Amino acid sequence: MIKTYIIVAQTVDGKIARNSTHEADWTSRTDKKQFIELTKKSGVMVMGLNTFKTFPSPLKDRLHIVYSNHHDSEKDNIPGVVEYTKDSPSMLIQKLEERGFKEVAICGGTSVYTMFMKSGLVENIYLTIEPRLFGEGIGIFDQTLDVNMKLISVRVVNDENVLLLEYKINI
Ligand SMILES: NC(=O)c1ccc[n+]([C@@H]2O[C@H](COP(=O)([O-])OP(=O)(O)OC[C@H]3O[C@@H](n4cnc5c(N)ncnc54)[C@H](OP(=O)(O)O)[C@@H]3O)[C@@H](O)[C@H]2O)c1
Repeated sequence: MIKTYIIVAQTVDGKIARNSTHEADWTSRTDKKQFIELTKKSGVMVMGLNTFKTFPSPLKDRLHIVYSNHHDSEKDNIPGVVEYTKDSPSMLIQKLEERGFKEVAICGGTSVYTMFMKSGLVENIYLTIEPRLFGEGIGIFDQTLDVNMKLISVRVVNDENVLLLEYKINI
């Protein structure tokens, strides 16, 4: 069974961005390193169109699955690099499994994190706590959830004041 996990960085006050177009240029080197390691290992990243638009260009050696209502997968796809979808989480995961992927990284933003968490398919969350406060902004989820988790690991990176947490979802 393919392993599905969320990767997310948030401020101490629980924000993943100031708004939908805010680039992830505020996160630490530690977080970026972990993001690259995890996404290269999975080989596939799932994200919403707003998150994809914050990337200057597609990331090397990883398939980007981009949720969008405004893209035609026949016309706009760059197969194996950027592929647009409207599939349900379970349909997408099944298709990725059939293509041989063993892991899939759910990379946000709020709408995609929420849709996958509600699907019950997410097994782990890799959460970075950055030493920042935004006051206003967008959170990881925007719908009611009732999820219990087990804390798997805690790593403190002192020189960047960063906390790396891994949780396992009780499915
Ligand atoms: N700190 C972090 O770890 C982190 C991680 C990820 C993202 N972010 C930040 O989060 C912000 C973006 O988040 P967001 O919540 O605004 O947007 P988002 O989830 O990245 O994208 C939302 C868009 O995705 C499409 N979409 C979502 N679900 C869909 C579905 N089921 N079917 C078809 N299309 C679907 C829609 O695009 P259409 O316009 O085509 O309808 C929707 O407007 C950015 O600032 C980004 O930098 C932060």
